[in-house]
Amino acid sequence: RVFAPVQVADLRALAVGKLPPHELEALPAELARAGGVLFEPPDPLPEFPGADALIGAVREAGLRGLGGALFPTARKLEAVRAEAADAKYVVVNGDESEPGNFKDRWLMEHNPRLVWAGAALAARAVGAGEIVFYVRGEYAAAHARVEAARAELEASGYFEGLKTQTFRGGGLYICGEESALLESIEGRRAEPRLKPPYPAQAGLFGRPTLVNNVETLAHLAWIAAHGAEAYRARRPKLFSISGDVARPGVYELPLGTPLAGALEAAGGAPEDLQAVLMGGAAGTFLRLPDAAELPLDFEAPRLSGDAVGPGALVAFGGGRDLWAVAEGIAAFFAHESCGKCFSCSLGTPHLHAAVARRERGPQLEELFLALEQGSLCGLGQAAPWAVRSLIRRFEGVRS
Ligand code: NAI
Ligand code: SF4
Repeated sequence: RVFAPVQVADLRALAVGKLPPHELEALPAELARAGGVLFEPPDPLPEFPGADALIGAVREAGLRGLGGALFPTARKLEAVRAEAADAKYVVVNGDESEPGNFKDRWLMEHNPRLVWAGAALAARAVGAGEIVFYVRGEYAAAHARVEAARAELEASGYFEGLKTQTFRGGGLYICGEESALLESIEGRRAEPRLKPPYPAQAGLFGRPTLVNNVETLAHLAWIAAHGAEAYRARRPKLFSISGDVARPGVYELPLGTPLAGALEAAGGAPEDLQAVLMGGAAGTFLRLPDAAELPLDFEAPRLSGDAVGPGALVAFGGGRDLWAVAEGIAAFFAHESCGKCFSCSLGTPHLHAAVARRERGPQLEELFLALEQGSLCGLGQAAPWAVRSLIRRFEGVRS
């Protein structure tokens, strides 16, 4: 499984994504920049304050799902807690596969104790007895470090009353979709399930399951340790910043930081900067300098797909061919489509071919619509966003 297109592959963002070698070694520690509270190991480990207190603090802190969907975390915790069942699970989603994202990889490699602490606290809050930590298949170093942290915390008694396991992922982009991930743990082919029911109601082995992203659980642990007020004062978020910037890396910045400020934190972008891909392949191209002051925050801006999402920012200087990048992205989705539903399995290769022909016009717009509205999961729905944003923002139709 090689993410082939050369035009995309030569961007540094993707050098930490789906490229050979498939056994990915640890990221250099200097990729974690500018200090930041999420880079500090939890010492002491946060204690469980009780379910009401923890969920109340998470709500007050305004924590959202930081895998990209931004669903309110307290609502998800409450939903799992409210279910009566003979077993409940917490699943940590460490299947970070979005091209341009490497912040979960950094957390798993350099601060896995914080993530495990968040998972254990969340499990106690929702009444789950078992935690499964799912690490992306290619993340060899992350898997080893997550497992080492698990063993250490287990030996220290931190998991008392909880079963824990580290699970090496199946090595497909679709494994990161939460229900496909559950299928994969259950030993089946990773294909998304129809929702509802959500995993909160019927998840792993049909039982209520809290599925949260690695970064979300790290934030939850920090909130348990320091309180909602301290969290709101900082509004920390990890950003994977790469492409044409002087110092690519994982940066913790306050939500609301303007796009230009984030690029500045990463050492600055070239003067002829033309675009930033926000959110990764399942995101949109922002046009620079128009978007320089855009605050990186939860509020969705204008085009569908315009969202901070998991926090990837890939910068493109004037010399880059954005259509070639969009072609690489379309090839990626065609390659990673799981084949379960019609509009995506047929639509993504069509999209790739159309982008390769540099096609424009009503037929392409119809294809965008078919993908967005007819696909079962986010992969097919998001497939047209990057190319559509390119057409809207760089070819006259501004929004
Ligand atoms: P979604 O919006 O369908 O769901 C978000 C979460 O909320 C899920 O856990 C879902 O189970 C839960 N949820 C929604 N309604 C609920 C309810 N009524 N009760 C209980 N729980 C409920 O989004 P989805 O498909 O889970 O994720 C899409 C996002 O994933 C995209 O925004 C994209 O940014 C991101 N993504 C991230 C990648 C990465 O590597 N970090 C890769 C690909 C996509
Ligand atoms: Fe599979 Fe694509 Fe359908 Fe998602 S949208 S279920 S990836 S075929």
